[in-house]
Amino acid sequence: MNDAVPSPILKQHLIDPVICIRCNTCEETCPVDAITHDSRNYVVNADICNGCNACISPCPTGSIDNWRKVLRTKAYTLEEQLGWDELPAEQEIEGAEDATTGPAIADDASFTPPPVDSARGSSTPPPSAARPVVNSHTNKQPAIATVTGNFRVTEIGREYDTHHIVLDFGSSPFPVLEGQSIGIIPPGTDAHGRPHHARQYSIASPRDGERPRYNNLSLTVKRVTSDHEGKAVRGVASNYVCDLQKGDQVKVIGPFGSTFLMPDDPKANLLMICTGTGSAPMRAMTERRRRGRQPGDGRLMLFFGARTKEELPYFGPLMSLPADFMAIHLAFSRTPGKPKTYVQDLMRERADDVAELLKDDDTYLYVCGLKGMEDGVMDALRFVADRHGLPWKELHARLKTEGRLHLETY
Ligand code: A2P
Repeated sequence: MNDAVPSPILKQHLIDPVICIRCNTCEETCPVDAITHDSRNYVVNADICNGCNACISPCPTGSIDNWRKVLRTKAYTLEEQLGWDELPAEQEIEGAEDATTGPAIADDASFTPPPVDSARGSSTPPPSAARPVVNSHTNKQPAIATVTGNFRVTEIGREYDTHHIVLDFGSSPFPVLEGQSIGIIPPGTDAHGRPHHARQYSIASPRDGERPRYNNLSLTVKRVTSDHEGKAVRGVASNYVCDLQKGDQVKVIGPFGSTFLMPDDPKANLLMICTGTGSAPMRAMTERRRRGRQPGDGRLMLFFGARTKEELPYFGPLMSLPADFMAIHLAFSRTPGKPKTYVQDLMRERADDVAELLKDDDTYLYVCGLKGMEDGVMDALRFVADRHGLPWKELHARLKTEGRLHLETY
């Protein structure tokens, strides 16, 4: 903290362990590395946090937006926060009122600095997006959904296995929008005997349901069998979900997400860039457009990356879409005998088409998939803009502030 004029009262930034889905977004976003975690909780180091708020809008659940007034000398330590099951109650602090009405000094309890715009994407939804419901169901009160379908959407392969799961909420309301996600709580406990945390999955169906007018939604879930280094691990939640049977009941929390949402304006163009299961929200959005298709609708363009054709979720259904519905560009990185191709390579190849969309103020961009693709995609967008005389810095800033650039990577 900047201790030039320290106030004895600190407005301490804390994360609510009840709502947090441990998605790591805050830790990745924090520009000063104040956020850390263990297998139990995500926590904020009061000595480092400068209250810049960069982490607030990317958090899908709002668990990050919690504050407690404490005596600076008694700030909650990392060890204390790591042991919490829920946030402590607000304490009465003598003199706190004086501090909150005092001058706005950098670390005064009353002072919240303006948000730092360090994010690459928009922190607001498209202006025409419908208003989302968020967090209607939490760990304490999850919704119970029944599995009504579990279909494999990649071909049989040793290293990959992606499933399309349909969940029905019966008569319990669970309204969602395209681009939102939910959390699934796997049954049982972890190695420490604690209940498993929920895992977050993007919704793959449009707001009116996988099966229209039924209270249901779908997910695209890849069975995790190895970690980022290729070491064999068995993903607790993904294996649970991929093995679900029709009729099984599942604990669901959420919905999450209030910015990565589709514009309701049918004239909006959607430029969608994804890898693997990052295709789920793109499926939700394109399916909404397909169902309500009208002459004069905005254009759809998809860049979709997978290791091979066999490993690309929904390859068959994608190929059977009407040719004039959406421009589809598939990038395969591990097709034997073919050069490794990533989505950003295809965006460069298709620079003229991408530029045409970038020039249109009705274009909205969505990027979802591997964390690593973010840099490549942003570089490709800059390349396209430069080549077509579009000032990228200005355009990027405008896309962000106008709610037209949405990134969700993991
Ligand atoms: P790669 O063959 O290099 O792993 P996954 O199957 O692991 O979910 O990945 C989906 C696709 O995304 C794969 O084709 C993978 O290629 C590709 N990919 C990996 N890293 C990047 C990156 N930095 N930018 C774009 N695509 C990537």
